[in-house]
Amino acid sequence: MERPTPVDEEIILDPKRYIVSKTDKKGVIEYGNDYFVQISGYSEAELIGQPHSIIRHPDMPRIVFKMMWERILNDQNVMALVKNMAKDGRYYWVVTEFETKKDPISNQIIGFTAFRKAAPKEAVKTIEVLYKKLLEIEAVGGMEASEKYLRGYLEEAGKSYDEYIDGLIGNNGIFKLFFKMMKALFR
Ligand SMILES: Cc1cc2nc3c(=O)[nH]c(=O)nc-3n(C[C@H](O)[C@H](O)[C@H](O)COP(=O)(O)O)c2cc1C
Repeated sequence: MERPTPVDEEIILDPKRYIVSKTDKKGVIEYGNDYFVQISGYSEAELIGQPHSIIRHPDMPRIVFKMMWERILNDQNVMALVKNMAKDGRYYWVVTEFETKKDPISNQIIGFTAFRKAAPKEAVKTIEVLYKKLLEIEAVGGMEASEKYLRGYLEEAGKSYDEYIDGLIGNNGIFKLFFKMMKALFR
């Protein structure tokens, strides 16, 4: 499928609704809830069986996904701020949490579920600046360079990536509670 051209227009998300998708262990979409399908602008048939990068926005630095994959493949949760792109090229920002699904007998990873909600505006404002810098660094020095920069940035902030994101989204517990509920519902 042809990649859309990014359009500098935001899709405003309903703060009360959540976006859920499930993938196999390689990140191929197997399921999306109604809101996921609606916001993406694609039909269900266009989404199922496609790699999740179908909604990847070119403004997202690759290092963010590398870090995310490292964590979820280790069965660790990670909270991330992600800019996604709809079929018409417009963008939307989400806070995402992941859950790794394992086969209960073999204990092998069989897939992942992502739970998302509208990202708080203040968090987006801050992370946008960081992502822009990471993207520029990647364009010149590749992911090795952006990884080093990110490590240095967090070190200076005296925070782990999780603490940094927690701080950004206000750490008011609302998101945590929401994600906990979603995980219980979508088991
Ligand atoms: C459950 C799950 C949900 C994902 N959701 C997104 C998403 O919303 N947007 C996105 O760009 N990548 C998402 N990814 C990551 C993609 O699989 C992919 O790594 C990323 O888009 C970068 O694309 P690339 O690896 O082709 O560079 C998700 C992966 C998993 C396993």
